[in-house]
Amino acid sequence: MESKEAVVSVDDLERALNIADLEALAAEALPRLAYDYYRSGSHDELTLRENAAAFGRLKLRYRVMVDVSRRDLSTRALGAAIAAPLIVAPTAFHRMACPEGELATARAAGAEGSIMILSTLSNTAVEAVVEAATGPVWFQLYIYRDRAATRALVQRAEAAGVEALVLTVDAPLLGTRERDVRNRFHLPEGLRVENMTAAGMGRLEERAGESGLAAYVAELLDPALTWADLEWLASISRLPVIVKGIVRGDDAARAVDHGAAGVVVSNHGGRQLDTSVATIDALPEVVEALSDRVVGAGQRPLILLDGGVRRGTDVLKAVALGASAVLVGRPVLWGLAVAGEQGARRALQILRGELDLAMALAGAPRVEDITADLVVR
Ligand code: GLV
Repeated sequence: MESKEAVVSVDDLERALNIADLEALAAEALPRLAYDYYRSGSHDELTLRENAAAFGRLKLRYRVMVDVSRRDLSTRALGAAIAAPLIVAPTAFHRMACPEGELATARAAGAEGSIMILSTLSNTAVEAVVEAATGPVWFQLYIYRDRAATRALVQRAEAAGVEALVLTVDAPLLGTRERDVRNRFHLPEGLRVENMTAAGMGRLEERAGESGLAAYVAELLDPALTWADLEWLASISRLPVIVKGIVRGDDAARAVDHGAAGVVVSNHGGRQLDTSVATIDALPEVVEALSDRVVGAGQRPLILLDGGVRRGTDVLKAVALGASAVLVGRPVLWGLAVAGEQGARRALQILRGELDLAMALAGAPRVEDITADLVVR
């Protein structure tokens, strides 16, 4: 694929103090087609910005005189132990960011004690990713119109050893990312939707006047999904299903009532319905709606959140308001673009370091000390 000169080095990586620095380096390193694809939100990008801005509006009521000499950031998600409440969000097409693509991401996630959620739209097949991974892999699923192909994909993911399915429900059609329309977004030469090549749905080509991904989604994914399809999915797999793309309490309750083990409060990183509510603002009603629900053997539904997480204090606020962990997407892509596996690790390290400091300064040395009273709403 076309690529720029290597304008960033591992030294630059060390100088990246925060996620914004990493993004600035990634913007230099990436071809425009790829950078625009990763960074875009839909239409006016109000939700893209609002996800982050809403974190900034929440203020912290920190506690003092708590012994914070030792901090413990570790927690669990669906039984998996993780080093911090940080999970790698599913994002598409990692080989546009670095040659090793999703293999680098999986290794980085494992090395940092996180979980990788692999996208259906990856440039590396699920089997190879699980094989390379050193930690748990969950699989993000799009349901295709072709249900036999969808079922085959689920079976492949399960056979490969993924530990959960994450069903995306906020994309019956793709939101319009205008940069992608202008750039005629398509996969660069040699890259495919590897999970779907066997089914003949691996190509994502250049189209005049539209995003190739929007065309792919409109042609191949099923826009007719209802809650019955969640039951179908739960019935064809032994894996727990997490529903991603929820911003309402009633939808969260329906998801669990139709077989989900949990939800991701998400608006797809501001890439779908523009002017959607910020995820951190939606979280409390989801937590409230699921407060009386149990799944499986008396377990509470898992509640995760993504969208706009760029600082450790954002993670702290999401956990305080009831998320078990957050997913981070773009920060990991920026790291990958700058320095592959090392860069993705750096993104997770930056956020974990900031969370550690935020916990110390908020008087919350353990994840269970991160409670709602820390946040002024
Ligand atoms: C893929 O899921 C995207 O939002 O681009």
